[in-house]
Amino acid sequence: MRISFQTNPPPLEDLDGFELVHPKPLRTKQQFKARALADGQGVWLFVDGELAGEIYGVPVASYKGEIPDTLPSDFYVAKLTILPKYWNLSLGRLLLAHMTALLKEKRVSWHSTTKGMQALSDFFGAKIGPTHPNWFGTGKPAVFRYLEK
Ligand SMILES: CC(C)(COP(=O)(O)OP(=O)(O)OC[C@H]1O[C@@H](n2cnc3c(N)ncnc32)[C@H](O)[C@@H]1OP(=O)(O)O)[C@@H](O)C(=O)NCCC(=O)NCCS
Repeated sequence: MRISFQTNPPPLEDLDGFELVHPKPLRTKQQFKARALADGQGVWLFVDGELAGEIYGVPVASYKGEIPDTLPSDFYVAKLTILPKYWNLSLGRLLLAHMTALLKEKRVSWHSTTKGMQALSDFFGAKIGPTHPNWFGTGKPAVFRYLEK
């Protein structure tokens, strides 16, 4: 298995497959992803040349008051997605580690909405913040997590 990373965004239409992994209310439309990528940073993970994972986020300072629980100085991970056929190969861990390394001294935070993401957050020793019981109308909770630098 040959793993590679890319920080230049692939064409947006190639990224739609990642959105389908998420429940409908949490899917990001292309125009919003374009804005996030213009303001922020993404990393894409390839397995044997095939797109397999995506992580992207934004500096909270560019989204004043829009992202709960964060500090203005945070880098906020909006989405981390591994395509299902590549789950449980530690690729989520690799991608989050790669992103945090790129961000150097910035505090990195996110809202965790799935068991997989909770496990990954625990693996990194992410601190636990407030829980939102009904995240964006999904009926599911989201837990704020952050990596203290
Ligand atoms: C969450 C996600 C990114 C994890 O990626 P992954 O590459 O499968 O994760 P890893 O292989 O790096 O596993 C990390 C840990 O999470 C655990 N894990 C993964 N999926 C899990 C699940 N559904 N339930 C419980 N634990 C899970 C793994 O077992 C591993 O822990 P371990 O070493 O103690 O066994 C991936 O499952 C995904 O994209 N899910 C759908 C989208 C999503 O939930 N994104 C995050 C939204 S906040």
